[in-house]
Amino acid sequence: MHTIEHYTDSRLFSQLDAPVIVFDSGIGGLTVLREARVLMPDRHFIYVADDAGFPYGSWEEAALREHIIGLFAGLIGRFHPQLCVIACNTASTLVLDDLRQAFPDTPFVGTVPAIKPAAERTRSGLVSVLATPGTVKRAYTRDLIQSFATQCHVRLVGAERLATLAEAHIRGEKIDEEQVLEQIMPCFIEQDGRRTDIVVLACTHYPFLVNVFRRLAPWPVDWLDPAEAIARRMLSLLPENKDKTLHYHADLAVFTSAKPDYAIRRLLQGFGLHI
Ligand code: DGL
Repeated sequence: MHTIEHYTDSRLFSQLDAPVIVFDSGIGGLTVLREARVLMPDRHFIYVADDAGFPYGSWEEAALREHIIGLFAGLIGRFHPQLCVIACNTASTLVLDDLRQAFPDTPFVGTVPAIKPAAERTRSGLVSVLATPGTVKRAYTRDLIQSFATQCHVRLVGAERLATLAEAHIRGEKIDEEQVLEQIMPCFIEQDGRRTDIVVLACTHYPFLVNVFRRLAPWPVDWLDPAEAIARRMLSLLPENKDKTLHYHADLAVFTSAKPDYAIRRLLQGFGLHI
């Protein structure tokens, strides 16, 4: 497994092949990488998981901000990415502006709760946002509701354990569905003959569990996953790749612990990431 330090030579990448970094605290950002690859099969990606810091949901804000900025100082210095994608709501809602200020020459795309599209689509007017406790607490999330969803009732649900359960599920471990149900139930509201009809997946880990959510949900809802919209945003920011021939890039996975277990390595191989 490659630690960040193993790739100190930015000359590994020519200007055109400068990589796109996709970053998350764990494997959740793979749900964004998956969509990005569909739209941009010719781009060179580096997936970075800060698994040594996982889960981000319960970090204290100032400490997490400092930690992530420190990590990006190292990543940008070593990889010279043409774009960085913060494929983590818990991080984006806290540190996106700080990252843009700290590294003004590097464009950043964030992943923030899809409250605006949910407010536009809901018919019942009852929308829930399923996120980590960190994302639910953020001023950024409250501002999104104030700016785009005052005409709806938005319930914020901070799930303590879902990101960890999603990681276990992806590892092939048997997860306790009672616990999953307990975490998602607060999303479902019935009020004056109306019911919640949209649940925003506001943590990039959750799409890995969406089939379990569908099966356990007390009634069908639209589970809104913003990954495709994020991939479109990435595409719009990247300079056009005029040379359409596919170049072989060994897309890399970097884990801050430097020791993901066997199941995670299998998963990364399935994603064609070099480990
Ligand atoms: N995947 C991350 C997100 O989108 C959070 C997981 C964690 O708690 O670290 O919010």
